[in-house]
Amino acid sequence: MKYSIRVGSAHTVTADCLVLVIWNKGDLNNEARAVDGASAKSLSKLLRAGDFDGKLGDSLVIHNPAGVRAKRLLLVGGGDARKFTAKNAAKTLRSALQAAFKLNAASLHLAIASVTVIDRDPAWLATRVALEAEDSSYRYDTTKSQKSKPVAIKTISLSAAGNQRKSLERALKLGQETGKAINHAKQLGNLPANICTPTYLAKEAQQLDKRHAAVTTSVLSEKQMQRLGMGSLLSVSAGSVQEAKLIVMQYKGAAASSKPHVLVGKGITFDTGGISLKPGLAMDEMKFDMCGAASVIATMGCVAALKLPINVVGIVAASENMPGSQATKPGDIVTSMSGKTIEILNTDAEGRLVLCDALTYAERFKPRSVIDIATLTGAAVATFGSYATAMLSNNDKLAAALLECGQQSLDPAWQLPLWDEYQGLLDSNFADIANIGGPRAGTITAACFLSRFTEKFKWAHLDIAGSAWNSGAQKGATGRPVGLLVEYLSRQRA
Ligand code: BES
Ligand code: MN
Ligand code: ZN
Repeated sequence: MKYSIRVGSAHTVTADCLVLVIWNKGDLNNEARAVDGASAKSLSKLLRAGDFDGKLGDSLVIHNPAGVRAKRLLLVGGGDARKFTAKNAAKTLRSALQAAFKLNAASLHLAIASVTVIDRDPAWLATRVALEAEDSSYRYDTTKSQKSKPVAIKTISLSAAGNQRKSLERALKLGQETGKAINHAKQLGNLPANICTPTYLAKEAQQLDKRHAAVTTSVLSEKQMQRLGMGSLLSVSAGSVQEAKLIVMQYKGAAASSKPHVLVGKGITFDTGGISLKPGLAMDEMKFDMCGAASVIATMGCVAALKLPINVVGIVAASENMPGSQATKPGDIVTSMSGKTIEILNTDAEGRLVLCDALTYAERFKPRSVIDIATLTGAAVATFGSYATAMLSNNDKLAAALLECGQQSLDPAWQLPLWDEYQGLLDSNFADIANIGGPRAGTITAACFLSRFTEKFKWAHLDIAGSAWNSGAQKGATGRPVGLLVEYLSRQRA
């Protein structure tokens, strides 16, 4: 999709489809009023006839509209203008795009220069247009013999005041790249585990190295991890014929002396639970257990495409978690790269076992901050459902920044406490730490486990077990929290 800014009044724009936002009481914004004037009041008449009332998310297509150069007019309801929040704006855009994607229209123009989002600026709206357009045009068909028809729309333009052109063009680019990255993460998440293996993820990361001069990817083999003492990570891959990979992507957008932001992703390409085998119901969804890794790879690609003026390191701990004669058993004790010994009481708590060694590895980059992203606990799903990502951190400023970026990008996170009182639940009689903390406070004790390996830097943990994918009829990866991560990184300066 191509995006542009067009200065000029809506009724003179040539496009296959012109979109107008209509408020619910039928009061017309400036652009709608201009169209109304040019069309002998056809809009007012239509609204008065009661066929369309501007209800939030409703849409109506009119062919060969009078007085307008565009071939079609798409009216979309914005609801109450005084309540046109970021969330309502996103909803309005999604229904406009959904209706437009059904048409055989190649060009779309959105007359939104006079549409005010009450809690955001015009640049945010432009970013959102491109983000939603990319996001909602994604179709998964890789492993279907019947390929889905690509959407007809090739170009999307926005109206704007002349002096805003430059800033809105930048905003469109940000939205387009963020949307593409969200789709990249969805695609990796949706691929089945017999295709998307640790080796596949490594190849994906190497693609970034090929595509972007500023990205360097290196992939550590099991042998190399052994030499580094990553006994915890390797205990997870022990039962699988798929070789574990530690994937390291380095993006350089600033001087070498500028400390990098580090992202660490959980990349369990399939989680059977191992010897602590999961029940069968919905086990197929454990192909999504690499969505943290997918968000890291996709965000790295986005950072490179946007040429952000910072240094970023993306680390992915990729492994399968399988039972087998070589698999780790409950009660086994392993030594992590940090030197801490871990009693593995449940092999299904494997995410923390791969992450702890990846987090220790992150120390060598002298990070400015480290954010790990992981489908870590069923308890996060029980707590937040699919809407909020669970966030825990050892640094209040970092936590506040991530919460703020989550709100801004409509990819929200909510904080849980990382209090010392919970740490005792991880005590072990036989090792320095146990890998589970009992049945209660599961999201917190998982983060407590990780916190033992992040004492040397500012760190936040995003548990995306609920937000990374949808179940049921809409089963599929969501691409979250790429929006949040890109928002966060695009605010940073070297
Ligand atoms: N990948 C799962 C977490 C998960 C479960 C995500 C359900 C989404 C839906 C993780 O590896 C896991 O199995 N966690 C266990 C930990 C427990 C054994 C302490 C869990 O949450 O049940
Ligand atoms: Mn598990
Ligand atoms: Zn898992």
